[in-house]
Amino acid sequence: MTGAPEQQTLVLIKPDGLKKSLTGNILTRLSETKLIIIGAKIAKPSRELAMQHYYEMKDKPFFEELVRYLMGEFHTPRVMALVYQGEEAIQKVRAVCGATNPEEADPVSIRGAYGRITTRGIYENVIHASTNEEEAEREIKLWFDPDELVCEPYPVKEESVSNGRRKAWA
Ligand code: PPS
Repeated sequence: MTGAPEQQTLVLIKPDGLKKSLTGNILTRLSETKLIIIGAKIAKPSRELAMQHYYEMKDKPFFEELVRYLMGEFHTPRVMALVYQGEEAIQKVRAVCGATNPEEADPVSIRGAYGRITTRGIYENVIHASTNEEEAEREIKLWFDPDELVCEPYPVKEESVSNGRRKAWA
């Protein structure tokens, strides 16, 4: 422990990463961070989820392609979603991911090794990682219900549902 803040961060291994059988390699690289995983699942992103995930990019000319890429329309309709936790988790994960633009990323980083830019100019950079604490919280709440994580990094509330009660983000 260094006294640095405990953080959570959302990681998505994107459809190109799954299609290219890179999941194991990417998880091995992420394990170099010595962070712990508090949630993990394979998901099939809906259009709504993909649009919400990238909503800050909604005015960019490549937004539609970005949404279709995350939905898996160019590869396979699956992503692996993970929540990593630990000291300075956001910076540590982004360091092993490398720069967003795969051509600018360090060649030994995940994006540098496995990413590409398509002939249409779209980044296929195999992994997403939250940029800051605010985005991490928004993204983790978007992709995971409280019961899908082994701890509760954010406040929760109890909700009534038809077959009982369940936890939801407060
Ligand atoms: S970052 O990492 O969030 O600071 O990067 P940013 O530059 O803000 O980009 C946000 C996401 O948009 C994607 N992006 C692009 N996709 C396709 N084509 C182009 N030209 C492009 N530029 C940016 C970028 O990959 C980011 O998504 P993630 O999932 O974080 O990689």
